[in-house]
Amino acid sequence: MSIRDWEGIALVIGIGGIGTMIADHLSKNAPKLDVYVCGRNITNQKGIFLDLEDDNSFVSFENQISLFDQPIRLVINTSGFLHSDTIKPEKRLSHINRSNIIKNFSVNSIAPILIAKSIEKFIRPELPFSYASLSARVGSIGDNRLGGWYSYRASKAAQNQFLKTLSLEWKRKFPNSIVSLLHPGTCDTQLSKPFQSAVPKDKLFTPKQSAEYLISIISSQRPSDSGKFIAWDSSVIPW
Ligand SMILES: NC(=O)c1ccc[n+]([C@@H]2O[C@H](COP(=O)([O-])OP(=O)(O)OC[C@H]3O[C@@H](n4cnc5c(N)ncnc54)[C@H](OP(=O)(O)O)[C@@H]3O)[C@@H](O)[C@H]2O)c1
Repeated sequence: MSIRDWEGIALVIGIGGIGTMIADHLSKNAPKLDVYVCGRNITNQKGIFLDLEDDNSFVSFENQISLFDQPIRLVINTSGFLHSDTIKPEKRLSHINRSNIIKNFSVNSIAPILIAKSIEKFIRPELPFSYASLSARVGSIGDNRLGGWYSYRASKAAQNQFLKTLSLEWKRKFPNSIVSLLHPGTCDTQLSKPFQSAVPKDKLFTPKQSAEYLISIISSQRPSDSGKFIAWDSSVIPW
């Protein structure tokens, strides 16, 4: 059954470049889904406050989603961290420091598995359910040919292991569930802005393009696809 026919609640977590476009695309193209965005900068009524680095915020998030009278059918985690004013991706070993590593792991690895823990009690085993979380090709250990970006790479690799493990547990508990790790391609957002100069124009997607690719993948998946690491063009990425 296509996502167009899914009925219930969709949660888009992370309200950045790609997350906003995914929520927009779902609202326009999945008429039976009630779409909520979840993050720190809520600007409309269909929003739930969630700071992914704050355990109390997870508690209030769970309280809010427990009030839905429809089942949760789709959760897409689009949050992520690569750089801030004070933290930059490491070019070499000498740039490594504890706070950079912790920040990357906090958002990119720990948050995605805590999201799964929060939503698990609301999954209805008899219904198809999908949890997709955005990873990054640079998180692939097998595909790491350039080095650098230690913390971001390692945090995405850790996310991949968390969610692969989750997919195996949920396969037993929720046979209709699909857990997937998706690489959106290089996309023109605040996250990639400082690193776009080496990217050919035709390889830099708009957030709308990435959102469409990712939803097309999610809507074509079956439970037998659970636990895969997949790129925007549907190709499987090595772990
Ligand atoms: N853009 C690319 O080229 C690219 C390539 C590969 C993978 N990805 C992955 O794709 C995903 C989406 O990235 P994007 O390009 O859309 O980046 P983005 O525009 O920077 O969006 C990231 C979002 O994560 C949210 N976030 C970070 N920490 C949070 C926290 N503690 N609590 C709640 N929300 C938090 C940010 O919210 P705030 O505004 O509140 O900080 C922001 O809305 C990320 O996982 C990224 O790693 C992106």
